[in-house]
Amino acid sequence: MKRPKKVAILTSGGDAPGMNAAIRGAVRAALNKGWEVYGIRDGFRGLVEGNDMIFPLDWVDVSWNFREGGTFLGSARCPELKETTAQSKELKEKALMNLYRHSITDLVLVGGDGSLTGGYALFSLLHNREYSNPEFKHMKLSLVGIPGSIDNDIAYTDMSIGVDTTLNTIVECIDRLRDTATSHRRIIIVEVMGRRRGYLAVMSGLATGADRIFIREEGVSPGELNTMLCVLQKSFQQGQKAGIIVRAEGAPLSTAFLTETIAVLLEPKREVRETVLGHLQRGGNPTVFERTLATRMGVRAIQLLDTISPEPQLVGLNAKKISSAHLVKSLTKMQTPAFQEGLSANTKTALHLSRKLEMPPEEKSRSMRVGLLTDGTNVSGMNMAIRAVARLALNRGIAVKGIKGGFSGLSKGQESIVHLQWSMLEMKSILRRAGTLLGVSSSGFTLDEKGYGTLKKQVKQLKIDGLIVIGNTAAYRAAHRLSSLMSTPVVGVPAASHCNLPATDWVIGMDSTLNDLLKGIDRAADAAHVKRQIFIVHLKGEFCNCLVKLVALAGGAEQLLIDENAADSAGQHAFQEKVRNSTDALKKMIALGKTFGVIVFYSRHPETADQTIQFITQSLRTAGITLDTTIVPLETSLGGITPTAFDRILAKRLGEKALETVLEKIAARDYSFHIVGIKGKELVVPLYKESIDFGTAVCSSALEKELERCFNLMAQPSELCIGMGGNVHWTATNNETRWQGKWTCKTCGHTQTFFFNPKKMLCLYCESVNCHNYGYIRISRRL
Ligand code: F6P
Repeated sequence: MKRPKKVAILTSGGDAPGMNAAIRGAVRAALNKGWEVYGIRDGFRGLVEGNDMIFPLDWVDVSWNFREGGTFLGSARCPELKETTAQSKELKEKALMNLYRHSITDLVLVGGDGSLTGGYALFSLLHNREYSNPEFKHMKLSLVGIPGSIDNDIAYTDMSIGVDTTLNTIVECIDRLRDTATSHRRIIIVEVMGRRRGYLAVMSGLATGADRIFIREEGVSPGELNTMLCVLQKSFQQGQKAGIIVRAEGAPLSTAFLTETIAVLLEPKREVRETVLGHLQRGGNPTVFERTLATRMGVRAIQLLDTISPEPQLVGLNAKKISSAHLVKSLTKMQTPAFQEGLSANTKTALHLSRKLEMPPEEKSRSMRVGLLTDGTNVSGMNMAIRAVARLALNRGIAVKGIKGGFSGLSKGQESIVHLQWSMLEMKSILRRAGTLLGVSSSGFTLDEKGYGTLKKQVKQLKIDGLIVIGNTAAYRAAHRLSSLMSTPVVGVPAASHCNLPATDWVIGMDSTLNDLLKGIDRAADAAHVKRQIFIVHLKGEFCNCLVKLVALAGGAEQLLIDENAADSAGQHAFQEKVRNSTDALKKMIALGKTFGVIVFYSRHPETADQTIQFITQSLRTAGITLDTTIVPLETSLGGITPTAFDRILAKRLGEKALETVLEKIAARDYSFHIVGIKGKELVVPLYKESIDFGTAVCSSALEKELERCFNLMAQPSELCIGMGGNVHWTATNNETRWQGKWTCKTCGHTQTFFFNPKKMLCLYCESVNCHNYGYIRISRRL
């Protein structure tokens, strides 16, 4: 039998939200393999120091904190490790010695480029036999890095851990700053983090409609300051009240210099203020994307350590897939001038788009007219798409006829038309307002052949040269039918709270919906924990399995139940079996000391969902679970959610693509119905009728299977799991001996340290006395 490995995990460099979820992913994946896991406190400092800084980690140590920002292991910067001095070598040898003493053979390192370089230096010292201590020749070490840095400055990954949450935090801060800037008609310079990379500045600037963005990679072009003053001047002339300039901390022109320049040179004068967001940006609970990305990366790190590759690896994200690359390849790429000086493709596109969107148009006569309507569900991000289409069209000398009330509005003709002007769209608060300022069809509105005839007539009478429809499946169907009747090009933009739209990996509104649901699950978990109950969170809405699995994984649910095929008797039987297995698993966890539970339930058969829930609660009772059960219905908020950074950016990119496409189709007299979407990293514009049969890309079976695997690993310890009935070294407890270790109170679930006698413990939180010699006790050392 293969000897269980001993793996250690450390977080290093600047902390990033999601690091705790990565630790949990790696810890639980390793425990489930029967490996022993050690945590290292305070990054490499702790590794060099040894002693109590290296300590055993078990299942319960990572139960709760994955919902929180920062890193519970602690972090530190340790640039000395990268050096080639004698002192650096000494530190590395101390670190190796501490790993050797604990017989640790595998290391997972979560951190930015500096930390990864330090980790690689440690690895190289051992593998190149450059050490002075001969004992190390028996030592083995495998290393896997997980990119953790809010700056998104690591090669071979699209995103590193911390970026999505930080971006959302910055966007929220800028929204707030805009409120006060608007009230006083001021300009605010916002400085965001990113010493070497302007990713955060560019993406947050695009998401919030900043007037100008300054980043290090762009340097300072000669006309830059004049352009900035000109944008501000023109925007104010158009009625804009506030100015927002986003500057990355590494940009060459300092915040103070920009403040001074604007205050002195801008005419007419405006008050200028500056805000440095600083470390505020790095905290906060991780988003759905963050938690799932981090968990997937943690799990992959352990899989990589379980393979035989002797080369250190780096886990990454490539479009939707978790990837891996040789760590050294990534480190080498990060040293190249092209990487250090250049803008990533994504950043470049976003920067150009932001500049086009915020540059007020020249007065032009507008002979071409594009119609724009939103329909279906009112979701977050639609306003952003409207603004993008309208502003980019106006800049190109095209008039935009906004149609109020979706297709029902269009059927009424002229009375529903609003001419979208730059000044109306300067209302940057619409950027963050949920839903659509144009509205959707009135409820009960249906379209028959006659109705489509009316729409066709109205499009002609309104002299619309091309139509853009932003909406869900129903809106797409109507747009398809209408386009087949007329000689006017139509382009669809996907916006819905779920993902059943063709030809796109992501839909405007989905990320906001998922994060809203996550807040609900987090609240349920909190309440379940406090009340010591089982909460069944009933997700209501239209979701594919992938999305349900994403939120269940991000929310840390103990069980996930989807009644897929409950309509037929075989399907019902299979579902009932799954419920029984789940309740048994939950019972086992409760016997081991778990005091609460969250079950995420999603029904494909809403008409029988209540009965199914009754069956689940009955099964809990039959299994002998005595904890009370609370049912929490969780609905998507009908669009009333402030859009996330991701939804804002996606809406703008898809809006731009839709406009380009409709103009090309007008020029080519192509009257077929195309839809825009995003596949992997590319924007695509397939024909609608050729896309409907392929289903949705979000629910790719590979992703769904991976999410399910991760969910199972995180939710339930396997038989092999140390500390959970597997290979438990603490069973040798002895009243006579003094011990130190950890235990989890059976009554309130808090984990705490004990000294001396692990058989009788007083909980510091609920003051109950727990007497047991099993459960969540872990002896870490003899005193
Ligand atoms: O590397 C991440 C980062 O947050 C940078 O954006 C920022 O410049 C730096 O860390 C701040 O470092 P510290 O927290 O050590 O002051």
